[in-house]
Amino acid sequence: MTIVPVSLGERSYEVRIEAGLLDRAGDALAPYKTNRPFLVVTDANVAAAQWHRLEAALRSAGLQAELVTLPAGESTKSWAHLEALTDRMIEHGIERRDHVIALGGGVIGDLVGFAAAIVKRGCNFIQIPTTLLAQVDSSVGGKTAINSRAGKNLLGAFHQPALVLIDPDTLDTLGAREVGAGYAEVVKYGLIDDPAFFEWCEANGRALLDGDSEARAYAIARSVAAKAAIVAEDERETSGRRALLNLGHTFGHALEAETGFSDRLLHGEGVAAGMALAFGYSVRRGECSGQDAGRVVAHLRAVGLPASLADAGIEASGARLVEHMLHDKKMSAGTLPFLLARGIGQTYLAKDVDLADVAAFLDGR
Ligand code: NAD
Ligand code: GLY
Repeated sequence: MTIVPVSLGERSYEVRIEAGLLDRAGDALAPYKTNRPFLVVTDANVAAAQWHRLEAALRSAGLQAELVTLPAGESTKSWAHLEALTDRMIEHGIERRDHVIALGGGVIGDLVGFAAAIVKRGCNFIQIPTTLLAQVDSSVGGKTAINSRAGKNLLGAFHQPALVLIDPDTLDTLGAREVGAGYAEVVKYGLIDDPAFFEWCEANGRALLDGDSEARAYAIARSVAAKAAIVAEDERETSGRRALLNLGHTFGHALEAETGFSDRLLHGEGVAAGMALAFGYSVRRGECSGQDAGRVVAHLRAVGLPASLADAGIEASGARLVEHMLHDKKMSAGTLPFLLARGIGQTYLAKDVDLADVAAFLDGR
């Protein structure tokens, strides 16, 4: 088993990563037992694909659990589901020292984390992420949220989990397109500040996506370690360090908005195209070599991810895409910070970006 510590003083916790861990989760969860059954929250797809494994693990460790199954999909991150879930937690008699379990992708993790942040002014939660995106990104770091009518993730809290249990084998039941979208976030860590990991991705990304168990576990552990280091340095995204995790997200957000945040473009696919555009724009500014930007595009395409507006099926004008960016919640004091790159593994936050120039650049893609 690989154990990655997330060092945050009294909010520190472990991320444990091992193939087959879900079948042994009873041992990991036993220390959190109280006189109430565990409340396990999941969505309908994960309930069908993975719950039987956790249920058996809990039973064999003599632990009781009640399952709450919510509909699958982004629309579950809503006031209505938050209200129903918090009501259920209160009816269950949850106390602050209790641990609610989030079994699922980023949707379930974000919703359960936010519910745990507010019930009784904060109880505990444990993440058992079941998508690659959740395993390498959303389950670690304590960002929790639901969506508001005005946009995604606008209502939330920083609330760290008490433990994260990652079983890469859960990906066996996840669709290939979802795994690919999560893989974009893996590549992101190489592009931010770890060129050797990007090289590893170039050599092993295909095997990972084809289900190679060693490659999956290695990439998850390295991604989690990268995220843990950034979160330990800048838990609340105040110093700018944590903002590096948004590489590709400003361009990607515009593409997602253009496609109506629909299945036409999954979040990770938007991030993939967004990272390629961030590198392309860095070349236009004379800051990054065309060779590095070319490697990013080539790798994303080699694993079937979009690396341009055309790949993502976007025909909108640059001006329209910039308009979407202006609605991004990362806007601060009327300016939009962009994550750009001086090369692979050399991402930085640029605050001097001229949006008219970004629009002109996008018109050429
Ligand atoms: P998701 O939770 O919707 O999962 C994707 C789909 O896969 C769903 O249909 C789900 O039911 C299904 N699924 C999950 N695991 C499965 C499995 N093992 N087998 C079969 N089906 C499975 O989406 P996601 O991509 O995991 O997460 C996206 C969410 O994460 C967004 O809401 C985003 O805002 C959020 N997010 C949060 C953070 C953070 O730091 N908190 C970071 C990135 C993204
Ligand atoms: N996924 C961005 C963050 O956790 O900060």
